[in-house]
Amino acid sequence: MAFAHEQLHLLLLLTFSTCCFSSASTISSVKPQRLVSKLIHPNSVHHPHYKPHETAKDRMKLDIQHSAARLAYIQARIEGSLVSKNDHKASVSPSLTGRTILANISIGQPPIPQLVVIDTASDTLWVMCSPCTNCDNHLGPLFDPSKSSTFFPQCKIPCGFKGCKCDPIPFSVTYADSSSAAGTFGRDTVIFETTDEGTSQIFDVLFGCGHNIGYNSDPGHNGILGLNNAAGSLATKIGQRFSYCIGNLADPYYTYNQLILGEGADLEGFSTPFEVRNGFYYITMEGISVGEKRLDIAPGTFDIKENGSGGVIIDTGSTITYLVDDVHKLIYKEVRNIIGWSFRGATIENSPWMLCYYGSISRDLAGFPVVTFHFADGADLTMDSGSFFNQVSNDIFCMTIGPASNIDIKSKPSVIGLVAQQSYNVGYDLVNHFVYFQRIDCELLSG
Ligand SMILES: *[C@@H]1O[C@H](CO)[C@@H](O)[C@H](O)[C@H]1NC(C)=O
Ligand SMILES: *[C@@H]1O[C@H](CO)[C@@H](O)[C@H](O)[C@H]1NC(C)=O
Repeated sequence: MAFAHEQLHLLLLLTFSTCCFSSASTISSVKPQRLVSKLIHPNSVHHPHYKPHETAKDRMKLDIQHSAARLAYIQARIEGSLVSKNDHKASVSPSLTGRTILANISIGQPPIPQLVVIDTASDTLWVMCSPCTNCDNHLGPLFDPSKSSTFFPQCKIPCGFKGCKCDPIPFSVTYADSSSAAGTFGRDTVIFETTDEGTSQIFDVLFGCGHNIGYNSDPGHNGILGLNNAAGSLATKIGQRFSYCIGNLADPYYTYNQLILGEGADLEGFSTPFEVRNGFYYITMEGISVGEKRLDIAPGTFDIKENGSGGVIIDTGSTITYLVDDVHKLIYKEVRNIIGWSFRGATIENSPWMLCYYGSISRDLAGFPVVTFHFADGADLTMDSGSFFNQVSNDIFCMTIGPASNIDIKSKPSVIGLVAQQSYNVGYDLVNHFVYFQRIDCELLSG
């Protein structure tokens, strides 16, 4: 057993070191390795800062706050106020509070596990690094570059000989809520687990080492793993594809949420083309159905307008989904038509726009029709009552779709968040520009 594992490991090392991460398919008889990371949600018992006494209502409040900040951030990016042109000073990162989903990747030799937010709208990988100012809330051990035998600083002038003095390239990101991380760029090995319970290393990955963290509250993560299609992102470097499976975000014991990078990613099910603008994955929404009923949405509603406003972004950084007001209104009305007369309305403090009722999703909504987002080329994203509603307390449930105008934004994109992507494996083909949606139990992807 140990021997076979060693061999496989060696093979992988060779594959990666000889072919610049681009593809492992040169050895065609070898099934592509799946570089896997379990994805951990802040509500999961596996999260190091899991708060057993936090109520569903507290969590919903945090999710709403977080999603609102994310939407404000998306607008700032679209309107150009945050985008830096300088690759090595990528201010192109989200305002995040770790309310979304975290991957567990290890960095360096010896490998130090890091819980990082997976962000489809960023190209940067950064982690908190020791010594660190204001990293008090980090999750698990901090990465100390001086203790990693495989770490090299990224110097302004390449430093090829022993003893030359490296002037490291500075790294900094600033978020819409003025949170920030600053430090220097470096390179090191990133280690993923593989589905055969081995590991696979990706050498010489460029990342930001944040020695100075400016967050006003617990960031809830150790850094960001950017997965957009820019040249510098890890997703682009490793096989130009990735997939994530989000099974259940409400169950603290669910362990099958996972991310797969590279060749082994699952691109299955129906696909729809994506277009990247400002680093966001836009997809073409053609309509929405509630049960068999197609909502009467005016043509062009979801189009990207000439000035860059509008459009539909699929995002791992948002939790709840925001739709343009006209569409939100239609869904709101439809839901009220279906269940409004059988349930008593409820309101959530600070979020009067949320459509909430007294009742229990599992007990009372068994017959509620599925809600389907229809995308170009026949791909669908279907939400059952557990994705479309959230049980925010024992006796109150709320719709998980909000109106974009809830945030005062001009660019008004619609954003599909993680809650809507539950029960799906979502695959990204960065070469051909397609997103794949496969409704599946994530447990079936293990192995
Ligand atoms: C992250 O991965 C490491 C190495 O595989 C493991 O030891 C650690 O427990 C994981 N962390 C969490 C929070 O699951
Ligand atoms: C962009 O154009 C649309 C109409 O096509 C308009 O409604 C919207 O206000 C404009 N947005 C901005 C930010 O100027």
